[in-house]
Amino acid sequence: MKLIEEIQKRRTFGIISHPDAGKTTLTEKLLLFGGAIQTAGAVKSSKINRHAVSDFMEIEKQRGISVATSVMGFEYKDTKINLLDTPGHQDFAEDTYRTLTAVDSVVMVIDCVKGVEIQTEKLMEVCRMRSTPVIGFINKLDREGRDPFELLDEIEEKLNIKTRPLTWPIGMGKSFKGVYSMYTRSLVLFTPSQTKLNSDDAVRIEDIFGPDIEKYIGSSAAAKLREEIELIEGVYPAFDVESYQKGEVAPVFFGSAVNNFGVQELLDCFIDIAPNPRPRMLDERQVQPDEEPFTGFIFKIHANMDPKHRNRIAFARVCSGKFERNKNYLHTRLEKQFRFSNATAFMAQNKEIIDEAFPGDIVGLYDTGNLKIGDTLTEGEKGRFKGIPSFSPEIFKEVINKDAMKSKQLEKGLLQLMDEGVAQLFSYELGSRKVVGTVGVLQFEVIQHRLKHEYGATCDFVSVNLYKACWIECHDKKKLKEFIDSKYRHIARDKDGQYVFMAESRSWLSMVQENFPEVNFHFTSEY
Ligand code: G4P
Repeated sequence: MKLIEEIQKRRTFGIISHPDAGKTTLTEKLLLFGGAIQTAGAVKSSKINRHAVSDFMEIEKQRGISVATSVMGFEYKDTKINLLDTPGHQDFAEDTYRTLTAVDSVVMVIDCVKGVEIQTEKLMEVCRMRSTPVIGFINKLDREGRDPFELLDEIEEKLNIKTRPLTWPIGMGKSFKGVYSMYTRSLVLFTPSQTKLNSDDAVRIEDIFGPDIEKYIGSSAAAKLREEIELIEGVYPAFDVESYQKGEVAPVFFGSAVNNFGVQELLDCFIDIAPNPRPRMLDERQVQPDEEPFTGFIFKIHANMDPKHRNRIAFARVCSGKFERNKNYLHTRLEKQFRFSNATAFMAQNKEIIDEAFPGDIVGLYDTGNLKIGDTLTEGEKGRFKGIPSFSPEIFKEVINKDAMKSKQLEKGLLQLMDEGVAQLFSYELGSRKVVGTVGVLQFEVIQHRLKHEYGATCDFVSVNLYKACWIECHDKKKLKEFIDSKYRHIARDKDGQYVFMAESRSWLSMVQENFPEVNFHFTSEY
């Protein structure tokens, strides 16, 4: 198959939601459609198996949350779908943000009872930054939820994106009868079932004002549906794929993931409208997926599952060309050639060695410590893919070594964990103070646990009063040096050696900004 055909065949996306809205359930139903799993419950039970093989995952198991991000590939109606799973827990938000750099579109699950929740708002901000196309799935229609119009208004208001319903619910909770699809002009009737797969019982309705509809849902539900559809067609502009692909409008579906209802409508429309692998910026140049030379970047590093070996798996997104096993690629940060003899793909939840991969695909590369998040691989072109920034952490703690004999192990362990993106390390210019910054408190436990089990090092974390880490920049090198000299107690370096100003409070930061107007302060490492 030609490169362009491979590209057109692919859709790479992620599901985002607030915990408990139904992301795992929807993932599982999508995998069932794709034939990637055979039984309901497989996603959850495989999670449990994974826990058992690693101490790190033990923490996850104890807390009952999904920490790891994984990739699931499957085929559906001649389309190769790559679904990137994201951790739902807010403490791992940074991991989710990075995964979103590797997708071309997103499905957002919203609980119809709870509406838009905080975690969805945060994730949607990240999608908006990149104009990632979003499809909404309003879930749990088998429960008494909120009015669908009200839910759409809330999405528009809180998530700052226009909506366009493509299916519409008929009743809700106990009186839920099904959905009418404006996209396919058909009626799909609801029968609660956790095992049914296809909605074969969809009834094609050419004209919603014709007499047929009463037969299926009764006259009062039919009258209400007609009224609502009329209102929708009057109020919402016709669905426009281009506006969706630009991230301006989110088509919305209604359903019940656990009952496998409304999922096929979502998936069928998804393969129709979701974008193929999109271009990506390499420094100042836009790399098109159909360029012949291979390019890709690392967005995630997975901890070693076997404590005896320190191997890790780096997840690389193919951006252009064809990735080939055993071919030499340039690692642009280290300016070194690397060959990957056992690159893996993630199909049907199994890892398998692959010979080639195409734009949109995710390949797993075995790594012994050379790869970092954000690294770029090419066939010779220099530069770095943009869009994988670090954000200023929220919580800061100083690392205190508890075993002087193990300071080397501690240092090494910390650096390697930071490469994996578990947290961010800031090394002060003055003395050897090291401060770890995270989005949530859970990471500190993960770090302590892993340092002990994988590196034999023990440490304490002591809270430090910091407001933000600010990446600093100034066109005038002399002025930058003056600033650094005068604030040297508060200057640290990040993992890439960039200067960071560690601000203790918002008011103090404002004061410093006023005193040094030439210096720019950024809350992300990419500006
Ligand atoms: P998450 O990954 O977004 O955190 O959510 P998850 O899929 O784990 O779903 C959270 C809970 O919501 C689960 O119940 C799940 O069964 C339920 N759920 C998902 N979709 C629907 C739906 O369409 N209708 C209803 N009524 N419930 C739904 P749980 O009790 O936490 O787990 P379980 O024991 O049922 O698996």
